[in-house]
Amino acid sequence: MRWRHAAGRFLLVLAVVLTGCVTSGAQADEGASGGRGPLTLATAGDLTGYLGAVLEGWNRTHPDERVTLVELPDSADETHAQMTTDLRAGERSRFDVLNIDVAWTSQFAAAGWIRPLPRERFPLDSFLPPVVDTATYDGHLYAVPYVTNAGLLLYRKDILEKEGVAPPRTWSELEQAAKTIAPKYGLDGYAGQFLPYEGLTVNAAEAVYSAGGTILGDEGERVTVNSAAAREGIGYLARGLREGWIPEEALNYKEEESRQAFQDGRLLFLRNWPYAYVSASAPGSEVAGKTGAVPLPGPEGPGTSVLGGSNLAVNTHARHPESAMRLIGYLTGERVQREVLTRGALPPVRAALYDDPTLVREFPYLPTLRASVLAAAPRPKSPRYDQVSLAVQAVVHDALTGHETPESAVRRLARELAALSHR
Ligand code: GLC
Repeated sequence: MRWRHAAGRFLLVLAVVLTGCVTSGAQADEGASGGRGPLTLATAGDLTGYLGAVLEGWNRTHPDERVTLVELPDSADETHAQMTTDLRAGERSRFDVLNIDVAWTSQFAAAGWIRPLPRERFPLDSFLPPVVDTATYDGHLYAVPYVTNAGLLLYRKDILEKEGVAPPRTWSELEQAAKTIAPKYGLDGYAGQFLPYEGLTVNAAEAVYSAGGTILGDEGERVTVNSAAAREGIGYLARGLREGWIPEEALNYKEEESRQAFQDGRLLFLRNWPYAYVSASAPGSEVAGKTGAVPLPGPEGPGTSVLGGSNLAVNTHARHPESAMRLIGYLTGERVQREVLTRGALPPVRAALYDDPTLVREFPYLPTLRASVLAAAPRPKSPRYDQVSLAVQAVVHDALTGHETPESAVRRLARELAALSHR
């Protein structure tokens, strides 16, 4: 399976290289064709494998503007590295449309890698409000929201029901159940994504935000992480690992490894994005029919999720910018947005879909998800977001592995972030 995937990727890369050769001539007559022609779309790993079919729909009806999918690795950081390497090649870059993590818009815009887009071309009013902000930098629209995301707590409904315990709303309820109930069933208690990569930044930020803290303030200009709330949030996760109700394996988990652990029936609780809930509930999963999902807990009641998702941006050096914008219009249109949910198991950005009775029947978690997205907190907007995130990951990892106390970790993180903002 993995091998087939690798072979597929090789063919795609080959296709991109060939497309590049064939179309370099077309670039010359961009004016004549009104900026229209073939495209490449680069994206992080398509975990639910739906995007190829969606793009085929476009290719069938747009034979002169065919799009070739370039699927990069599953991990947000590896995708970031490959995209930025490509974008730094300037006119030689090969990605025309980029499906970028919401966290990267500021960095890509500030670096001049992606173009400002005309707002009137896109139905921004029909999107959930917080997602439009993630596509905006310095007052301009630099990308168009495509998929949104909010963390949920997945839990073993069968086990909590048997124990007569309600799904946790607070950290102490979660901790208690993870400590006392999970071992009775031979399960580990709780996991999130704790490998040092973007997912750890997300999990750490959620812990800090849920306790009422922040990492950076004033659009990334002020360091605010040295607070009692941040110590409490990081301390909570560190305690879980020290006491064993978060298993040590979770220090190596990204989204997929953690989903697999839950789906194999090894965990009582898991923090993950909604796609993991869909996958765990699908026929063939060990925990199908035994899984529930609720908002993330916090110290005294529901916590705060980080706003996830991705935006579609156009490379400054895109070969055919008009086609790039037309493709983005297609991907953010009503029909494809519905498929994003029904085939991709990803949260769409169009608000009306969350009220659609047929969809709500098929995806009963939609109202919970909408509430979580509307209440989710964005990651700091910073032209140096990648370095901010690397600092968070490195320091928090040291706290989670017990190499540093939460108190000293939070102080060190504040110093590292301050050094970054003065550079
Ligand atoms: C998901 C989210 C994205 C986040 C990433 C972290 O893909 O949609 O925003 O940065 O996970 O691993």
